[in-house]
Amino acid sequence: MKSIIITGGAGFIGSHVVRLFVRKYPQTKIINVDKLTYAGNLANLKDIENAPNYMFVKADICDFDTIYSLMQNEHVDGIIHLAAESHVDRSIKDPFTFARTNVLGTLSMLQAAKLYWESLPEKYEGKRFYHISTDEVYGALEITDPEGVRPPFTTKASSSEHHLAYGTEFFVETTKYNPHSPYSASKASSDHFVRAFHDTYGMPTIVTNCSNNYGPYQFPEKLIPLFINNIRHRKPLPVYGKGENVRDWLYVEDHARAIDLIFHQGRVADTYNIGGFNEWKNIDIIRVLIKTVDRQLGRKEGEDLNLITFVTDRQGHDMRYAIDSRKLQKELGWEPSLQFEEGIEKTVRWYLNNQEWLDSVTSGDYQTYYEKMYANR
Ligand code: NAD
Ligand code: TYD
Repeated sequence: MKSIIITGGAGFIGSHVVRLFVRKYPQTKIINVDKLTYAGNLANLKDIENAPNYMFVKADICDFDTIYSLMQNEHVDGIIHLAAESHVDRSIKDPFTFARTNVLGTLSMLQAAKLYWESLPEKYEGKRFYHISTDEVYGALEITDPEGVRPPFTTKASSSEHHLAYGTEFFVETTKYNPHSPYSASKASSDHFVRAFHDTYGMPTIVTNCSNNYGPYQFPEKLIPLFINNIRHRKPLPVYGKGENVRDWLYVEDHARAIDLIFHQGRVADTYNIGGFNEWKNIDIIRVLIKTVDRQLGRKEGEDLNLITFVTDRQGHDMRYAIDSRKLQKELGWEPSLQFEEGIEKTVRWYLNNQEWLDSVTSGDYQTYYEKMYANR
């Protein structure tokens, strides 16, 4: 492909995808379309911002005219759509913003691609619209075995170790959608629109549903970066409910590698689940984070366990997510590359070494910095 739009490229996962594509495909123009909401930060892409095949466009995906003109002017033949409002707690307070960006924004991307691609002589030939979604659209699984055995900390997940830790079920690609939060409801709706554009107009679409990501550049409102930062500064760690909810964690670069593989080799109109067979109760992961931060800071390991503070549970808090990614592993040969232990070590080290980044995003300074930079261009 000659020209690919990646939406939401200044966010957490998007910045890893942009970096991977800019480096791996020097002959392809990578156009990062991002509105730079509170979650978008161009500092996440400092290392590639001057690459000749990289272009940044500050735009709202809901702005149909701008998106459509960009597709025409840049002869875009591929779209990887990550831009979204992504935090469940925010969606509980402000569902409208989630419906606007996640549903209407996705529709605007789809309609612009449809009109542009259908205007070309080759139409949809060689084109691809790849929509990034979440496992949260499937709803919540039950915890049937609270004392379950999670994968050994040191074991790399692989297709031979598809481990069910706390229940008898996984989310598979055919699991019926049953979203509970305004966030997951908006993502489910956008997934339906993407599939409808394939079924109605023949657009070559792909949807993937991934489990919780962790790693560098995640906005510190999400569990892992928020808690690393709080442990460092010895601030209380607000654990929702009893901390028994289960999430299935994947290192963000492994997600980016899966996106690359599926974008290039995935079957059109198909769906792939992405996850690392790595279920953890929140409270267990929090204890690991405390010990890791303590050790890396030269504190006594575990001395900050007293920061754990149980607070009122999140409304409608989904109990358990667990992804079955065997289809992706079998059909396209993808596997997570990191052991969870390595991923957590690397992640904690990154946040501790990048306090400036954390300070700038927690203070909001990054927004004024880039606002000024763009105003001066
Ligand atoms: P993020 O919140 O870190 O980044 C979202 C990006 O989208 C930001 O750069 C933001 O500025 C941009 N954006 C928001 N509204 C926009 C708009 N109207 N127009 C243009 N840009 C806009 O999110 P993330 O965690 O990187 O998630 C990226 C995608 O992956 C989302 O679609 C999310 O649903 C999905 N996903 C996330 C996870 C996870 O664990 N974080 C897991 C599975 C799927
Ligand atoms: P989060 O990172 O917000 O991701 P998601 O809700 O999309 O899974 O939260 C991960 C888990 O951690 C979830 O069960 C909620 C819990 N959590 C807390 O207990 N305290 C917190 O301050 C946050 C942000 C999350």
